[in-house]
Amino acid sequence: MLSKKILKALNEQITKELYSSYLYLQMAAWFDHNTLPGFANWMKVQAQEETAHAMIFYNYVSERGGLIDLGAIDKPTSGYKTAKDIFAKTCEHESLVTSSINNIMSLAIEEKDYATKARLDWFISEQVEEEANAAELLGKITRIGEEGNAIFMLDKDLATRVFVTPAPLMPGA
Ligand code: FEO
Repeated sequence: MLSKKILKALNEQITKELYSSYLYLQMAAWFDHNTLPGFANWMKVQAQEETAHAMIFYNYVSERGGLIDLGAIDKPTSGYKTAKDIFAKTCEHESLVTSSINNIMSLAIEEKDYATKARLDWFISEQVEEEANAAELLGKITRIGEEGNAIFMLDKDLATRVFVTPAPLMPGA
C-alpha cells in the first residue's frame, strides 16, 4: 500500500511527464515550421518517451493498489526563437524533472518504501541519459551554428531516431 504522500507525489509525476510530452510536441512543431524535420522527429520521439514515462508511473501506482488522479496539463511554453533556445530550455526542463524524481526518491527512502525506491532507480538512470542527450545536442548546435550545411547534416542524423519501448513497459517486465 502506498502512503498518501507518496501516492500524491507519484500522481503529480504522471502529470509532469505528460506535460513534458506536451512541451516536446510544441518544440517539434517549431522545428516542423522551420523546415528542420529531423529535429522535429527527434522531439516527437522525445514526446513519445515522456508519455511512456507517464505510463510507467501509472502502471506502478495501479499495481500498488493506488488510485490514479490525473492533474491538469499546463499550456507548454512556446514562442521559441532558435534551435539553441529550444535545447537550452530542454536542458532546463530535464533538470527540473530530475529534481522532481530525486524528491520522490528522498520521500521513498524516508518512508522505507523500498518498492517505490526500486521503481525510481530506473528513472534516476534514465534522467542521467535524458540530461546528457539534451546537453550534447545543445553543445552541437552551439558549435555549428544555425545557418549553413552543418545544421542540415545534423537534421538528417536526427531524422533517424526511432521510439524504443522502455524496458519497464516491455511484456513481462
Ligand atoms: Fe520523463 Fe525527459 O524525463
